[in-house]
Amino acid sequence: MTSSSSQGVHLRAQAVSKSFDQREVLHALNLDIAPGEFVAIVGRSGCGKSTLLRLVAGLEQPSQGQLDQDLQPIDGLNTQARIMFQEARLLPWRTVLDNVLLGLPSSQHAVAVQLLEQVGLAERTQDWPAHLSGGQRQRAALARALVHQPQLLLLDEPLGALDALTRMEMHHLIEGLWQQRGFTALLVTHDVQEAVTLADRVVLIEAGRIAWDERINLPRPRSHGDPALSAIAQRILQRLLQPQKIHGVAQVREGIVTTA
Ligand SMILES: Nc1ncnc2c1ncn2[C@@H]1O[C@H](COP(=O)(O)OP(=O)(O)OP(=O)(O)O)[C@@H](O)[C@H]1O
Ligand SMILES: [Mg+2]
Repeated sequence: MTSSSSQGVHLRAQAVSKSFDQREVLHALNLDIAPGEFVAIVGRSGCGKSTLLRLVAGLEQPSQGQLDQDLQPIDGLNTQARIMFQEARLLPWRTVLDNVLLGLPSSQHAVAVQLLEQVGLAERTQDWPAHLSGGQRQRAALARALVHQPQLLLLDEPLGALDALTRMEMHHLIEGLWQQRGFTALLVTHDVQEAVTLADRVVLIEAGRIAWDERINLPRPRSHGDPALSAIAQRILQRLLQPQKIHGVAQVREGIVTTA
C-alpha cells in the first residue's frame, strides 16, 4: 500500500466489553489494527458491529477494558476519525459543495472542490442533495468525510442501499482513495464478497466476540469474478451461517447477504 499524506492510526482493543443496562453486547474483545490497515467487520444483525464502530469513534465508552488509538486511550470524540453511514446524512438546505465545506473555513474551498472532482461530482457541486442519486449522495458523503483528512475512516454499511453496479464503482473509489491517502479503514458490511474485495483482513463478530479473523492476501485491485476471492467469501459465509448457541438458545439466521 502506498501512503502519501498519512500513516493512518493504530487501533488496539484490549478486553473491551460494552453493556447497555444489564446486557453485555461486546465481550472482552481483543483487536489490533495496524496503521493504514483496511479491516472489514462482518456478522449477523445485532452482533455488535456498529457498537464497536461507535466505541472507536468515541461516541460510546467501553464498560470494561481499554481502547487505544496510537497507544493513547480514546477519550471523548475521536477527532482523527470520520464516519460514513448507510444514509448520506447531507443537509438538504445546503448545496453539495456547502455540505462538504460544513464546519470548515472558506480557505478549504479549493480542497473541497478537488475532492468532489475525485469522487466524480465535479458537475454537481451547486446541486441540492435531493437532486442526486443515492450513489451520488454517498460520493458526496465520502468527500465530506475525507475533506477533514481523517487518519481513520469508519464505514457503517455505507453501500448497503446501493445497487450492485454502483457498489462496485464505490469499491474502486474507496480503495483508490485509501491507497492514495493511507488512512486506516474499518468497514462494517453485511456483504461478505464486499468485505473480501476491499479488506486486508476480515473479522467476524459473533454475539459480541471475535469468532474469525482472516488475512486476505489477494492482489489488488480485486475482481468480483475471481474464483479465489469467491472461494474465500464462500468459506467466511459458511462460517457465518453456522448455527450459534447463546445461552443455550439457537439464534435466528438473519441479516446476511452476499453478492457471490
Ligand atoms: N444505545 C443503546 N442502548 C441499548 N441497546 C443498544 C444500544 N445500542 C445498541 N444496542 C444493542 O446492542 C446490540 C448490538 O447493536 P449493534 O447496533 O452494534 O448491532 P449491529 O451488529 O450493528 O447490527 P446491524 O447489523 O443490524 O446493524 C443490539 O442488541 C442493540 O439493540
Ligand atoms: Mg449496525
